[in-house]
Amino acid sequence: MKSPIEIAKELGENGRCICPNFLSKELLHSTSADFDFTRRRGLFSPAGVGRGNDHQIRDVIRNDETFWLDRSNSTPSQSDLLDKCEELQQAFNQTLFMGLTDFSGHYARYAEAGYYKKHRDAFKNSEQSTQAPSRMISLIIYLNADWKSGDGGRLRVFTADSHEDIDPVGGTLVCFLSQDLEHEVLQSHSDRSSFTGWFTR
Ligand code: OGA
Ligand code: NI
Repeated sequence: MKSPIEIAKELGENGRCICPNFLSKELLHSTSADFDFTRRRGLFSPAGVGRGNDHQIRDVIRNDETFWLDRSNSTPSQSDLLDKCEELQQAFNQTLFMGLTDFSGHYARYAEAGYYKKHRDAFKNSEQSTQAPSRMISLIIYLNADWKSGDGGRLRVFTADSHEDIDPVGGTLVCFLSQDLEHEVLQSHSDRSSFTGWFTR
């Protein structure tokens, strides 16, 4: 298990960092339970892509459903998760001088046959509006308690001349520079749960 500073250093060197067992067994367990409870309460809704609400376009690109966490209205598990992200934000600022000011994140659930086509999480600086907060670092924490190879739903990250596939194993953290890394959620063959968020400035 890597410390927040080690994660920040690796992110600075490679533009991405993968950290198995980022969540302890206990935190993974309580977060997965909270995720299921939130879903049963009917609080998830179809995920959006950028501006507008064209559902046909959206379903071609991604077909997951999400629930945004809200610090001022969160369960104890959700607060624990947001605390972990705050620790990371401090480490990123200390180590990489990124001037991150905020974080927002959501639970995401992909059903069987779920996917999210190849994309970047942020546009390059020049294309970005000066008003909106800029997504600097993307974070994903997988919540699948016993993911098996046949479950699919791997995260594919594209490098200059190749790609790497990451298993969405419960407790694993992935983070990367939002403007740089193209990535894709390959088709899932089972329910797939994660927490995904962005550090902004
Ligand atoms: C996203 C995303 C990847 C994943 O939500 O932007 O790319 O593995 N998620 O869930
Ligand atoms: Ni993404």
